[in-house]
This record gives sequence, structure tokens and C-alpha cells, in this order.
Amino acid sequence: MAVLVTGGAGYIGSHTCVELLDAGFDIVVVDNLYNSKQESLKRVEKITGKPVEFIKADIRDKEALREIFSQHEIEAVVHFAGLKAVGESVKIPLDYYDNNISGTITLCEVMKEFNVKKIVFSSSATVYGITDKMPLTEDMSLGAINPYGRTKLFIEEILRDIYNSDNGWSISILRYFNPIGAHKTGLIGEDPKGIPNNLMPYIAQVAVGRLPELSVFGNDYDTPDGTGVRDYIHVVDLAKGHVKAVEWVLKNTGCDAVNLGTGRGCSVLELVAAFEKVTGVKIPYKIVGRRPGDAAIVYADVSKAKKVLGWHAELTIEDMCADTWRWQKNNPLGYAE
Ligand code: NAD
Ligand code: UFG
Repeated sequence: MAVLVTGGAGYIGSHTCVELLDAGFDIVVVDNLYNSKQESLKRVEKITGKPVEFIKADIRDKEALREIFSQHEIEAVVHFAGLKAVGESVKIPLDYYDNNISGTITLCEVMKEFNVKKIVFSSSATVYGITDKMPLTEDMSLGAINPYGRTKLFIEEILRDIYNSDNGWSISILRYFNPIGAHKTGLIGEDPKGIPNNLMPYIAQVAVGRLPELSVFGNDYDTPDGTGVRDYIHVVDLAKGHVKAVEWVLKNTGCDAVNLGTGRGCSVLELVAAFEKVTGVKIPYKIVGRRPGDAAIVYADVSKAKKVLGWHAELTIEDMCADTWRWQKNNPLGYAE
């Protein structure tokens, strides 16, 4: 029996592959390598000492998925495959709806065909939309504010409908807060295409000299230092949360959404200061205007994850900075040769 990991060559997927293998699961990875390189999985093999079965395919390709399900005994699916850039989703919404929503529908259709009804899905804190009520709890009202967010929200609704139509399904929806950091070996980490959209990979590329300085998007928010506050979570903690979610879907039926965060907020300037302290590398920055669509403060209520999955985040902001830096310093150009 194996766990199928869609998008397993990507940032969160590769870290989750390590934790699944370490926990004793066999895995099969399907990824079209649109936003990743197969090298990440070679590194997963190096870290774990275990082979990774990889199939290069698009999850919208029904025949390719059928082939995977007929060749392997899949007991559950961890579904990461998707496009994730908020700004890009505004420019090419149809690509996002097709890739993320059609891809998930095709995947679920094939799962149903093969009677595999256990899935862990990558959702996002973005499904809470814009609200001042913090911390965010899973029962709050949902609403997306961009096409990317809408794909996550629609997929959540589709998964709830699937469960309502057939209570034999077991669906764990994980709403991630802000994943950063890298594996402690420095062998795998985040390798964004082009100029990073997100804060930590941007800081890391400034530190390694690929970018001249960080632009801090606004210092006039109603936060202690005026800069945006987020709930950063170490990607290895997040990956361990997926192992717990796989164990949950294997033992239960239901459809349940759970926040994966630390429950603590950290501002942009606090993260910059922590990175400088841990690494000894200065991060030049300038304050610029706010980025449209950004909230002032976002952090999770993490009590449900503890109660339902028996999981909580353990690693600190300092760990996140040290591990990001080890990865970036050892791989200044990411997985590129
Ligand atoms: P990533 O881009 O590194 O990984 C996604 C992987 O999916 C990539 O390897 C890509 O090649 C693959 N992929 C995309 N479309 C595919 C398709 N149609 N068929 C097969 N493979 C496909 O992104 P990540 O940061 O690891 O994110 C993983 C998941 O978590 C995504 O669904 C993302 O939306 C979600 N998520 C990420 C964050 C974050 O900040 N990184 C936050 C919340 C949710
Ligand atoms: N920021 C900067 N400069 C940068 C990049 C970001 O100052 O170059 C600031 C942002 O304004 C924000 C904070 O750093 O205050 C974090 O920004 P990120 O882009 O790293 O993360 P977001 O919280 O904006 O976005 C993340 C995910 C999205 C998801 C969203 C909502 O990347 O996929 O959380 O949960 F939709």
C-alpha cells in the first residue's frame, strides 16, 4: 500500500515526502514539474535512504492517473498539485481554475473509480478572506478575494459535497498559514521560479546576493511596528502535520478542515531582525507602499489541530531562519545546476 503525493516534487510536497517515508509509508509521487525539478526527489532519496517512485504527469490527464492507480495499491492521496501565485492568478484566472479545480475534479473522479476515498488537501488561510477577527478559527465564515483563493475555497466546497454525497470518504482539509524554512540537512528547500513573491524567499535571495534589497510593503499598518504580521510555520512542522492527517484519514471518515500554523504572529521587520541575528547577514531594506490585498494581521487558532490531529508546531522563528539560510547558502541557485 502506498500514499500518492500529487505535487510531491514541490516545496511543501518534497518535505512531506521525507516525513512520510520516515514515518514508514511507501509513497508514489505524481508531478508535472511545472514549478519544480525532479532533483528535489533525488534529494528526498538522499535524506531518507529510501527510493521514491516518481511519475511525471499532469493530474488533469485522466488516463495517466488511471495508469497510476492501476499500477499501484494507493490507500490515500496527499494533494499538493496546484498553482499558487496570487498575483498571477489575477492575470490568468482560467489557468488557475483549470489547473487547480479541474485537476482536483479529475483526481477525485479517478479516486472514486478505484474506490480510494481518503484525501488530504492543501488549502490555505486565504479562504478566510479579509477579516479583523484574530485568531482565525475553522468555523469562521469563508470568502476569497482573488482567483487563487477562490480555487481553494471552491475545492473545499467540492470536497464537502463529495463527502455529503458519500459518507465513506475521508477528507482532511489543511489550511496552511505561512510556510517557510527548509529541511535541516540544507538539501531541500523553496526554489521559486523568477523573482520571489513571498517574504522569506525574497529575504534569502537578498542574503545570498541574488537581489539587492528587500522592499517592505508598508509600515503604516495597525501593528506594533507598522509592518504586516503573519503566522510563519516551519515547513518541516507542516510536513509532520500531513503525516498526522494521513493517519487521521486512514482511521476515520468525515470531512474536516484544520488550521496548520503556530498561533503566533511575527512582523516583517521582526522576521528580518531574526534572520540577521541568526545568520549574521545584513538584509538591506526600504519601506515602500502597501501591496494591494494584503491584510495587516493574520494568525491561526491552532487548538483544533492539537485536538483532532494531535499535532502542534514545535520549531521557532530562529529555526526557520537558520534552516532557510543553510538551504539558500548551500544552493544559491536552488536546484539549478
Ligand atoms: P509548489 O509550486 O512548490 O508545489 C506544487 C507542485 O505541484 C509543483 O511541483 C508543481 O510542479 C506541481 N503541479 C502544479 N500543477 C500540477 C498539475 N496540474 N499536475 C501535476 N503537478 C502539478 O508549491 P508549494 O508551496 O509546495 O504548495 C503546495 C500546495 O500548498 C499548493 O496547492 C499550494 O496552493 C498550497 N499552499 C501553499 C502555501 C505556500 O505559502 N507555499 C500556502 C497555502 C497553501
Ligand atoms: N512582504 C514584504 N515584502 C515582500 C514580500 C512580502 O514586505 O517582498 C510582506 C507582505 O506585505 C506581508 C508579509 O510580508 O505582510 C508576508 O507576505 P507573503 O507574500 O510572504 O505571504 P502572504 O501572507 O501575503 O501570502 C501567503 C501565501 C498565499 C496565501 C496567503 C493568505 O503566500 O498563497 O498567505 O493566507 F494566499
